[in-house]
Amino acid sequence: MDTLACMPAHPAGPRHEDLTHAARIGEPPADLNALSESVWPATAARVDGVLELAGVPVTQAVAEYGSPLFLLDERHFRQAARAYAQAYAGADVYYAAKAFLSGRIARWADEQGLRIDVCTMGELEVALRAGVSGDRLLFHGNNKSEQELRRALEAGVSRIVADSFDEIGRLSRLAEQTGVRPNVLVRVTVGVEAHTHEFIATAHEDQKFGLALAGGVAASAAKAVAEDPHLNLIGLHSHIGSQIFDAAGFEVAAHRMAGLVADLVTDGHRIEELNLGGGMGIAYTPDDDPPRVQDMAKQLQSIVTRECELAGVPVPRLAVEPGRAIVGSAGITVYEVGTVKTVDLGGRSRLYVSVDGGMSDNIRTALYGADYTVVLAGRNSSAEPVLSRVVGKHCESGDVVVRDAWLPGDVQPGDLLAVAATGAYCRSMASNYNYVPKPAVVAALDGSCSVVLHRESLEDLIRGDAAFD
Ligand code: LLP
Repeated sequence: MDTLACMPAHPAGPRHEDLTHAARIGEPPADLNALSESVWPATAARVDGVLELAGVPVTQAVAEYGSPLFLLDERHFRQAARAYAQAYAGADVYYAAKAFLSGRIARWADEQGLRIDVCTMGELEVALRAGVSGDRLLFHGNNKSEQELRRALEAGVSRIVADSFDEIGRLSRLAEQTGVRPNVLVRVTVGVEAHTHEFIATAHEDQKFGLALAGGVAASAAKAVAEDPHLNLIGLHSHIGSQIFDAAGFEVAAHRMAGLVADLVTDGHRIEELNLGGGMGIAYTPDDDPPRVQDMAKQLQSIVTRECELAGVPVPRLAVEPGRAIVGSAGITVYEVGTVKTVDLGGRSRLYVSVDGGMSDNIRTALYGADYTVVLAGRNSSAEPVLSRVVGKHCESGDVVVRDAWLPGDVQPGDLLAVAATGAYCRSMASNYNYVPKPAVVAALDGSCSVVLHRESLEDLIRGDAAFD
C-alpha cells in the first residue's frame, strides 16, 4: 500500500474544491458509505463494509474474475423485465438489445416474457443462438444490409422496421425471392426529441433515422409498403429519445402518429400496431427521479387510446422498446484504484482517482457528459469527504468515469470503487482503445456468480493482427 498517497494529500471538505462543480453535485452526503436505493441494484448491500451484490462480496468477485468487472444483479434484471411485461399487459415489450446483449441476457429477457429488438446481424445472431424464436424478434436499423435482411427473413423475424425507401425496395425484392412476406412497421420521424424532463416538439427531422411525418414522406412510405404484394404493413414506429422521465414527449408523438394512422385508415389501410420505441429513464444519481413503470405504462396506454379515439380510428396494439430501463440499474462496474493524485488549482484542489478501466468500458461520461454515482466498495471509511474525479487509464484527458464525486479522503491505491447503473450502454459500447481488453460481465444470484461474458485477453486482441499470423 502506498501510504503517502492517502495522507494529508487529500484535503477534506468543500473549502478546497472547484466551486462550480461543488455547486453541481451539492453538499457531501451525510453518510458516504450509504447506498441510495434508487441508484443501486435491488440486492446491493454493505456487509462489514464490503459492497455485496446478491450476497456476493465485490472483493470476492474481483478476486475470482479480475478487475475492472461488470457485475449484474440477475434478479434485478429479471424483476425489471417482468415488471415491464406485467405493466404493459395487452401490449408488446421488446427489450432493446443495444443496451446490452449476450446469450444469457437474451434468455433472461425471453424467459421473463419480453420480445427482443435487434438492429444488426450480430445482435440477431446472438438472440437466435440463445434460442429466442424469430417470431419474438423485431429488426431495426437505418442501413440494414441485404445479408441482414435475408437472414431476418429466413429466421422468421416477426417485424422489420423499415427506415427508408431504399430499404422498402430491397426488402420487397428479397421477400419476393425468398417467398417470405414480412410484417413491416414504418419508422416515422415525428418531430419530437425527448431527453429526461425536457422535450422539444419542434422539427427534429434533421437526422438519419426514420421517414418524416412532415411533408407526407412517412405516409408515402407506409402506402408503398401497403401496396407492395410482398410486404405486409402492420404498423408504425417512432422513437423519440433516451433517458425520458415524463410522458409529455410520448404524448406529442402519439398525437402526431394518431393523425397519420387516421389518414392511412381513411385511405383503406389497416394499422394494427403503434410502437412508441424506448427511452424510459433510470436513476444514475439520487437526484434522478424516474416514474414508476406502471405509471408510465398506464399513461402511454391511455394517451394512445385517447389520441386514436379522438382521431376516430381503431386503437392499435401498443408496443414499446425499453433497454436502459431493464438492464441499466441491474449492473455496476467495480474498478481497482491504481493512483491517487491531488491537483492544485491555485487555492483549490481536486483529487484525481485513477482506476484500471475508463473510457474503454464506459464512454458515456466522455460522450454525453453522463453523471454517475460511485462509492468506495471494499471497505467502509469514516474519512472526510473530498471532491474527487474518477478517471481512467487511457491516454486522453477526457477519459473520465465520474466527473464529480464525494469520496472519502483516505481512498488509496488498491481500494475498490463501484460505479452504479452501468448495466446499459457501457459494455455494449466498450472499445479496445489503447489495446485494453474488455472486462468480464458476471451475474450474481443468491450468493454465487456465473460468467455472462468472459474477460477478453490480450491474445484475443492480438489474434487479429496479421503481423503475428
Ligand atoms: N428503440 C430504438 C429504436 C432505439 O433507437 C433505442 C435506443 C431504444 C429503443 C432503447 O432506448 P433506451 O430505452 O435504452 O433508452 N448510447 C446512448 C443511448 C442511445 C440509444 C439509442 N437508441 C446512451 O448511452 O445513453
